[in-house]
Formats: sequence, C-alpha cells, structure tokens
Amino acid sequence: MPPPDPRPLSIATVASEFAPFAKTGGLADVTTALTDRLHRDGHDVRMFLPLYRRLRDTDLDIVPVDFVRNATMQIGPWSLDWSLCTARVGDAGQPIYLIDCPALFDRPDLYGDARDEHVRFIGLSRMAIESCQRMGFSPDVFHVNDWQSALIPVFLRTSYAWDALFARTKTVLTIHNIGYQGAFPADILDDTGLREHARALHQEDLARGVINFLKTGILYADALTTVSPTYGREIQTERYGAGLHDLLRRRSDHLVGILNGVDYATWDPRHDTKIPYRYGPGDMAGKTENKRALLESMGLPHDPAAATFGVVSRLAYQKGFDLFFDTMPAFLAANDVRLVVLGSGEAKYAGFFSRLQQAFPSRVSFYHGYSDELAHRIEAGADFFLMPSRYEPCGLNQMYSLRYGTPPIVRKTGGLADTVQLFNARTGNGNGIVFERFGSDAFRWALGYALDVWRDPAARARIIENAMAADYSWERQARIYVALFRRLASR
Ligand code: ADP
Ligand code: GLC
Repeated sequence: MPPPDPRPLSIATVASEFAPFAKTGGLADVTTALTDRLHRDGHDVRMFLPLYRRLRDTDLDIVPVDFVRNATMQIGPWSLDWSLCTARVGDAGQPIYLIDCPALFDRPDLYGDARDEHVRFIGLSRMAIESCQRMGFSPDVFHVNDWQSALIPVFLRTSYAWDALFARTKTVLTIHNIGYQGAFPADILDDTGLREHARALHQEDLARGVINFLKTGILYADALTTVSPTYGREIQTERYGAGLHDLLRRRSDHLVGILNGVDYATWDPRHDTKIPYRYGPGDMAGKTENKRALLESMGLPHDPAAATFGVVSRLAYQKGFDLFFDTMPAFLAANDVRLVVLGSGEAKYAGFFSRLQQAFPSRVSFYHGYSDELAHRIEAGADFFLMPSRYEPCGLNQMYSLRYGTPPIVRKTGGLADTVQLFNARTGNGNGIVFERFGSDAFRWALGYALDVWRDPAARARIIENAMAADYSWERQARIYVALFRRLASR
C-alpha cells in the first residue's frame, strides 16, 4: 500500500445552509459538521455562504475581509454590490466566509419564490468563485451542494476557464435531495452569463425552455456524491430519480453514496445542554425524566407505561405523513399512547396534525413551527421516533434518535435503509422498526410491532441498547470524502 498522503487539501465548500443559524433541514447540519471536521484534520477548508439577514442577529463576530470590499457584479440586468465577510465558528474556530450582498440575501427567509431566486444563487456561486480569485485561493476541490451551487462546475469550465488559478481544481457535487433541482425558464439564460457558452447547457432542456441547475451540475462535476449508498442506487431508478435517473446512470462511474455523519458534540444525551436531564448507556434514569418533562411541557398527561411517539420534521411530501391519515386516528383511539409532533411546512400536513390534536387532546400535542431546543427534547423524551419517508436521501433524525435510545420507526428507503435494521425479538438483533412498502397496512404493522416491543421489557431494553450502540461519527465519514478529494486532486 502507498503511504498516506499527509499533504493537507485546500477545499472551497459552497452551500446555502449552515447550522444552527441558517438552517431549514439536514443540509445545514451536514455542511457545518463536515467542514468543521476537515478543518480539525488540518485541511484548508473555506466555506462560502450567503450573509442572510438572520445571521446578523446572532452572536457571530462578523468582520469584513479587506480585499473584497464594495465590489460590483453584473448578473443580467441586476447590478449587485457585494463584499466578503468572515467569522469563526465552532470550538475549533473554523473560518467561514459570508457573502454580503444585501440585494440578494438581506431577506427574512433563506429561500423564496421571488422572480430573482435564480439570481440569488448564481450570485452565491459566482461570488464564491470571485472571492477565491481575490484571495488568490486555488482549491484542490470545489465542493458544491445541491442546486444552489451546482452551476459552479460549468462556470469554472466556461466563464472562468481563463483563470489559471483553477486549472487544477476539481469539482464535487453532493446531491442532498434530488427533489429540489432549481429548474428555471430558459429566459434566464442571460442571467447565467452563459449565452456565449449556451452549447455547454443541456440542449434538449434548452429547446424545451428549461435551465436546470442540478442537472447542469451533474453534467459537469468531476465527481458526484449523494448522502447514502442506498440513495446513490435509488436515484438511478425511474422511481427515485426525479427525471435525472438516465443521466445519473450514464455518470454512475463518477457517483458514490457517502453516508452522512452525526455531530455527536451536538447530538448526544450524555452532554446535550438543550435537554433537562442527561443520560447514556448504563445510566438511563435521565431518559425517564426527560419523557415526563417533555409531556408536561407539551400539555399531555404523563403515564410512564404509555409509549410516546415523536416526530421532528419538515412537513413535506417526501416525509410520508400521508400514511398517518388513515392509520393514526384508529391507532390513537385504540391505544393509550402519546404522539408529540414538531414540524413546519405544507398546510395539508399541519392541518392534519392540528385536527388530530383536537380529536385526541390528551394523546397528541403538535408544535407548529421550528424549534431547535424542542427537537432535542423530543429526541430525548420520546420512546419511538417516526420517520415513514417516501424517500430519504440520508436522514439525520433517525441517527440522532438511535443515539438518544429512541428506536426509529422508518420506511426502508435511502439512508433509513442504511442505518436502521428491523429488530428481531428472537435473535435480539436490530435497532429499530423497519417497514418496506409505502402503504397503510405496512405502517399499521410497524406501529403494532413497536407496541409489542414496548410491552416486552427484555425486548424493549435490548432494542434501546442496540440503538445506542450505533456509531455514525463524522470522523469516519469525513475520511471517505478526503480519500475521494485526494483521488481527484492527484489526477
Ligand atoms: P431533511 O434535511 O430532509 O429535513 P434530515 O433528517 O436530514 O431531514 O434533517 C432534518 C434536520 O432539521 C434535523 O436536524 C432536525 O432536527 C431539523 N428539523 C426539522 N424540522 C424541524 C423543526 N420544525 N424544528 C427544529 N428542527 C427541525
Ligand atoms: C436533505 C435530505 C436528508 C439529508 C439531508 C442532509 O435535506 O432530505 O435526507 O439527511 O439533506 O444531507
């Protein structure tokens, strides 16, 4: 075997989310923890993010970078003033770079449906590239995430190809969710700045009047990753590929599924400061106390014998809550259980959970909104965690709930299939409840089986023990990224 290459890598990471301040879902947790890990391991990783309005109201010490001040960028008809700021985050003081372009990012929400949504992320992408230029930073790898930064690979090969700074730079596109592609009408062509390179774009799409950012990234990135091995295979099928499966199949030699890790500094009940009582394997008294505290705070009667089911989720089609519609009312009517739900998103699901709470006021409590603290308290206080996703690229909550001794009930798809194994009471193997078919019967079976396990003290203790033993630390997963980056950089 060749000796390990000790040379630190230089990596430019671009993303639209960052935890905990600019987060709508797991993308934030992942980009933050992965870059933190790479930084700790000695790599020169520079993460570029929008300076969203909400970042200004945090305790981040944001300082301007001298050499990128009061620049102007022309994107189609938009003339945009921008500067670069920096801040240090995490215990290891990782530097992050914040693109200060008020016209694009000084808004209440991270995402929107305004007519300049594409401009916002073309801006992020080009300003990240131009920040590297002004810093003289020549990354081995540009690591881009989801559609918001997926044009960077084509930009580097076209509009910025003149710059020798990027001559050796390789690009890696990580697909966190193929359900969101950034497909815009082709009349934004001038805003991409690619009119003279229009041949570089997907020709059939252009003819149909579409420019699809994620698809363009898939065409041009040197390597593609997604966030679990199973999802990596699934997206090459018609059922899961959201129209991109043929293209992904053609590029399958360059596509790898790398399971996300967990930031156990943030998500571990042994030292989680957001939960009232700390606990861990061999010292589970705190879990019982967390359950009591959770139910009390959510206005539900506490009965240690009643199993508590937890949900923390974006309320989106992907997450499979349609399965609740014709199973949950009967399940709640027939069993003295508790259901605690934290979520925000589509009205269809929020309305359902509100009605469920009204129908079962002593069994169901729904917090409609976003609360990081409540998310931790549900992981700690629930007995089971529900995640019946239609598709799930990776999923973090099931991995969190394993560590909190809260066995997840999941559908066998994507990262859920890679991290949760069906508990077998006979062999004592398995860390959760897994069902395969997306249908009410299968889900009803899973709920019933969970109650069987709950009522059998030996089985219950065993499934919890197995759950808490799982280890999905970033140390291991980050090494897989580094190996990929090194392979690319050495070409
Ligand atoms: P996704 O990225 O598809 O939403 P993940 O399971 O990967 O799913 O990550 C979800 C992340 O977002 C977790 O950290 C979870 O705790 C958090 N989260 C989701 N909804 C909420 C909410 N309403 N309040 C607080 N945190 C939430
Ligand atoms: C996406 C996926 C989720 C994944 C997260 C982080 O939002 O829906 O499954 O865990 O990205 O990669």
